[in-house]
Amino acid sequence: MATPYSKGLEGVVAAETKMSFIDGEKGILEYVGIPIGQLAEHSTFEETVFLLWNSRLPKKGELADFTATIRGLYDLPEQIEAMLTRLPKDAQPMHAMRTLVSALGLIDPKPNATDVPTVRQKAVKILACVPTMLAYFHRHRQGLPLIRPDASLSIAENFLYMLNGAKPTPTMARAMDVCLILHTDHGLNNSTFSARVVISTLSDIYSAMTAAVGSLRGPLHGGANEGVMVMLNEIPTVDGAEAYILDKLARKDKIMGFGHRVYKSYDPRATHLKVLAKQLAQDTGNMDLYEKSSRIEKTMAEAVAAKGIYPNVDFYSATTYHCIGLPLDLFTPMFVIARVGGWAAHIIEQLSDNRLFRPDVDYTGPHAVNYTPIDSR
Ligand code: SDX
Repeated sequence: MATPYSKGLEGVVAAETKMSFIDGEKGILEYVGIPIGQLAEHSTFEETVFLLWNSRLPKKGELADFTATIRGLYDLPEQIEAMLTRLPKDAQPMHAMRTLVSALGLIDPKPNATDVPTVRQKAVKILACVPTMLAYFHRHRQGLPLIRPDASLSIAENFLYMLNGAKPTPTMARAMDVCLILHTDHGLNNSTFSARVVISTLSDIYSAMTAAVGSLRGPLHGGANEGVMVMLNEIPTVDGAEAYILDKLARKDKIMGFGHRVYKSYDPRATHLKVLAKQLAQDTGNMDLYEKSSRIEKTMAEAVAAKGIYPNVDFYSATTYHCIGLPLDLFTPMFVIARVGGWAAHIIEQLSDNRLFRPDVDYTGPHAVNYTPIDSR
């Protein structure tokens, strides 16, 4: 008996997971039962990925081993580096990332393996390489020499080092690490669902991850953080924010960084990113961005909070990434760096208890139509 049609699968339970729990009414997010706020405060991105991939926090030695394994894999395979340095310099970073993640499958001797232990090994390599890909591409498109990874640094620190050629301050490194933690996993969001759909055919991890990167680029999903920054740059002054927003709402435009299919309350990740954004904006002389954001939030609260439309993860991540010094078109690729951790966890979970995704469809077309010869049409 088919379940009734729900557009966009709204409200349809399409999988089970032990990784992240979301209560959209109460604004709760937990990774394996741990509230996201505790992880943002006490954990690291590497530890959070271990938690999601193993359903528990690591012991000290396990974390040291996991971290050392990742750091040993930061370098790009030479053929991928050669491909990267021939990519068009004006390619959009998300298109470059989709291409490079896919390319990793070209040099894997056993790309199609779907046994979980082997997939885990591939996942670690992808997790370690994606930040290098992004930093290298950014250097390449500027015509700058590539900065080789430093295996003494964490994923967050090393990314900023390879991007800028200088080690980040502890504050910036920690801010990046917290952003990665907050973006790692989030239930069956569109890109994670895409990865699970693809791997459910027993296709390979590279195909699943490539599909996920493609999904995340969309402005209704991961692309929203870039949209927020474009909006903040378009608003001329803090005092101009309210009119700008009300005008867009009047035209039924969607305000980037607001609303969510599941959260009908404040996205708990936005709570933490708001604090981080304010701290970094103060440190870097960007308080106008933060104050514009506050005005936007106040205007939206008055206009649409009653409809359950609140800031989501993308709203304050934009200001945070800007203050860390990231160019606008690297905001969504930042989401890729983090969400590779969640996508891999879901790919492993799907493979551990797989059933091919093949939903039904209501046919609404005609029946009993006879073929009309072309001369009679
Ligand atoms: C992410 O799924 C995940 O978990 C995603 C994510 C993750 O971690 O993976 O959390 C990351 O993708 C966050 C969302 C980022 N996207 C944006 O910020 C883009 C702007 N947001 C909207 O496009 C929208 O809120 C969605 C796409 C996020 C959710 O849309 P839904 O659930 O399909 O809701 P809808 O479009 O049907 O809107 C319901 C109503 C509509 O009004 P009515 O037609 O009923 O009068 O709310 C309105 C919408 O117009 N609405 C908005 C709005 N979002 C919804 N109005 C103005 N601005 C908005 N942002």
